[in-house]
This record gives sequence, structure tokens and C-alpha cells, in this order.
Amino acid sequence: MERSDHKSVYVATFGCQMNEYDSDWVVRLLDGHGFKPTGDPHRADLIFLNTCSIRAKAEQKVYSLLGRLRPLKEARPDLILAVGGCVAQQQGERLLQDVPFLDIVLGTHGLPRLPDLVAEVERTGRQVCSVEFEAQDDEWHIADVLPSRDRGPEQTRIKAYVTIMRGCDNYCAYCVVPYVRGPEVSRPAGEILAEVESLLAAGAKEITLLGQNVNSYGQGLTPVLTFTDLVERVAALNPTRLRFTTSHPKDFSQDLIQAISELAPLAEHVHLPVQSGSTAVLKAMGRGYTREEYLAKVEALRAACPEVALTTDVIVGFPGETEADFEDTLELIRQVRFDGMYSFKYSDRPGTRAHGLDGKVPEEIKGRRLAELQDRQKKITLEINQNLVGRRVEVLADGFGRHPGQLTGRTRSNKVVNFNGSADLIGRIVHPLVTQAWANSLSGTL
Ligand code: SAH
Ligand code: SF4
Ligand code: F3S
Repeated sequence: MERSDHKSVYVATFGCQMNEYDSDWVVRLLDGHGFKPTGDPHRADLIFLNTCSIRAKAEQKVYSLLGRLRPLKEARPDLILAVGGCVAQQQGERLLQDVPFLDIVLGTHGLPRLPDLVAEVERTGRQVCSVEFEAQDDEWHIADVLPSRDRGPEQTRIKAYVTIMRGCDNYCAYCVVPYVRGPEVSRPAGEILAEVESLLAAGAKEITLLGQNVNSYGQGLTPVLTFTDLVERVAALNPTRLRFTTSHPKDFSQDLIQAISELAPLAEHVHLPVQSGSTAVLKAMGRGYTREEYLAKVEALRAACPEVALTTDVIVGFPGETEADFEDTLELIRQVRFDGMYSFKYSDRPGTRAHGLDGKVPEEIKGRRLAELQDRQKKITLEINQNLVGRRVEVLADGFGRHPGQLTGRTRSNKVVNFNGSADLIGRIVHPLVTQAWANSLSGTL
């Protein structure tokens, strides 16, 4: 066999889209340092795990994967094993002690340093840890790493994500993000627009702007720019579709509502995490809005844009949540009729404010509440989706479906549609007729 002249990196990504974005970025960065991506950890010279610590379960996944990788490292001591992302940021040096076969621990602000750290491990064979929060300047200069036109096949992706801000200043009582991602920093608009332009030039059709709370974009920037200003500028670049996530209800503004109803590329879908339907729980969570204020925003949004699809996140069993609080959440779900919902049992995270609160809800009660909530939501989602049967929907075809001859894509409202069609339609707008509907997807024919 011919000896390859490059090294290979295997990247595994956990957690949110921001981690996905960071992982893509790392792949491009390493490409410039002679590492080609591989889907097979057995062939890798470097393994990079980009981790998530939002809930205890997410964190456990990382430890169990590390356990499975251990034999690989033992068989090939020159394999370099690196952990980055939110677990790395949270654990720091401790992770190196707990996992002695690990080589690199890299915090959420340290991604640009990965090639240097790899070189250091190659040279010294010693464990290294880098978790300082530092000036993010170099991190933002994504275009400098590799011109996006040369980014390789992953850049011909139809759906592309663009980070517009990092970190979070909201400190919701249950949440680790402000601790592991640091303070909120908005990326200069010029850089965002340049990245969007190059993605569009490379064939992207749908752009999603990413941030933990996109609605507070622009703070600290000069000249001052709001999220709505940014959305207008990105929309002016004419992507086929434009999305953004995640919105925070407290900062979701009337002028953004206006923009959603007016700007053609903006898709009619908003992910607006409510977390709870009880004002008392929202207060304890530190969310900065009441049940009524949330409902008023939903009403304003639907008044301006009746066809908008709404999805949300809910946490059940936050410390102190009573049966009556939970009923408030069920009632809110009934009232709003979300198109979809992600729901979670409250997970106690060390270092957060909620960690120290009394009134922790027992596991079995959390489990029961979650099941009831999900059951309720599933029925609503199904009813909403079934209303689409017999109608034509606008779909951006973005890949092959599960069965031969089938394509998949999403409606403007972000629902998955599987339909018959040929490969040349991928990346194009099509209008299938919806023939069947489930809670998670629709079937259609062209
Ligand atoms: N920035 C976004 C969401 C970030 S995390 C926002 O503010 O909405 C994604 C979701 O994970 C949150 O919306 C919340 O529902 C859930 N989550 C965060 N911390 C959690 C915890 N400790 N336990 C359970 N769910 C949690
Ligand atoms: Fe976490 Fe709240 Fe920030 Fe979202 S807004 S990332 S839930 S602290
Ligand atoms: Fe997880 Fe970090 Fe994202 S904790 S949800 S990967 S910001």
C-alpha cells in the first residue's frame, strides 16, 4: 500500500450547532496543517472530541466514548487524543488527571491553538491543557484560515451555519453555558457578511445565523447594530432562505417580528424557548419574562405573520416546580400549540445557581412530567402536520431520503419532507404535495 503523505484527524461532535460550527472550523484549520478528516477513528493520527456539558447525560457520553477509545490509544501510543468544547472548559486540568491517557484538553476559546498543542505533544509527549478565556480576535478571522471557496466538499453544503456571537451573559439559573463559553461577544458584521457571501458563492442556499441569544446581537459593537439590522443586511445578500437560532423571548423585538413578516428570504419559523409556563418558575430560572409576556410575544408574532411555525424548549422539574407550576406549562402548550418542542428533565449542573436551590424534584416525578408533556405535544404536532396533507409545500431539497429514489428537505416552517425526486433537484426549491404526515416528518409527491 502506498504510504500517505498526510495525517488523519477524526472529529466527534456533541451538543449544539455552535459546536458543529466549531468542529467544521477545526477541520478546516487542521487541513492547513496537513491533517485530512477521516470517518474512522482506527485510521486517525489525531482524535478530537468536541464536547457538551449542558446536561449530565451529555457529559457522561464523553466519558463513555473516552473509555471506548482507550484500547486504541494503548495499541498506538503515538495517537493523539484531544478533548475540546464545554466539558474540557469546565473540567480543565482535572480531565487530564481523570483520564491519564488523554493528551490535550482545549477550552472553548482555544481552538486556534490546537495545531500548536498537537505539535507540542508530538515533540514532548507530555499532556497539555489550555482553557484560558482570551481575546477572541484571532478566533473570528475564519476567512484567514482557508478561503471558503477552497474549503472542500463540506462547503458545498446546501445548508450553512454562521456564528454571529459567542458566549452568553444571561446566567439562567440552570445553565452552564455562560461559564463554559464565557461572556457574550458579538462578531463584527463585516466578517459575518463576508462569510455569508463566500458561503453563497460556494453554493449554499440556506444560511442559519447562530448564537445563544441572537436577539441581543450587537452589544459592544461600534457602530451600534441590532440583530434586526444584521438580519436585513444578510437578507440583502439574497440567500434562498435565512434562519436564525436561538431566540430569547426577553429580547425578541417588535422590529424583528416586522422583519420576519417582510423580508422574503426569512423563513417562517421561530425557535422561542419558553422553558416553563409558570411565572414563578420563570422567575426562579431568571429568564426575565413572565408567562403573560411570552404569550404576548407569540400573539404579536402570529398577528404579523400568521403562517409562522413556532418551536420551543421546556425544562420539567426545575427546583421548586410544583404540580400546579407543571399544569401551567401544560396549559401553555395547549394554548400556544407549538409545531414542535424539545423537552428535558432538569439536570443539576455544578456551579450553576440552581445547583444550590432547595426543592429538588425527585427523578420519578420529573420522568412522569416529561412523559406527560411529550405525549401532549406529540398529539399537537401530529394534528398540525396532518393539516398539511393535501397541500403543496415549498421545500428546499437538501439530500437523499432513506429509500432509493427519495429526496429529503425542509419546508420554510422547518418541517422535514421526504418525497420522490432525482438527484439533480438537490439544492433546488420544489413543491411536493403532502400525502402523509407524522409527528416527525411529512411524505410528499412531486
Ligand atoms: N441559549 C438557548 C439554549 C441553550 S441550551 C436558550 O436560551 O434558549 C438548550 C436547551 O437545553 C435550553 O433551552 C434548555 O431547555 C435546556 N437546558 C439547559 N440547561 C439545562 C439543564 N441544566 N437541565 C435541563 N435542561 C437544560
Ligand atoms: Fe443558557 Fe440562558 Fe444563556 Fe440560553 S440564555 S445559553 S439557557 S444562560
Ligand atoms: Fe452544549 Fe456547550 Fe452547546 S454545553 S449546548 S455544546 S454551548
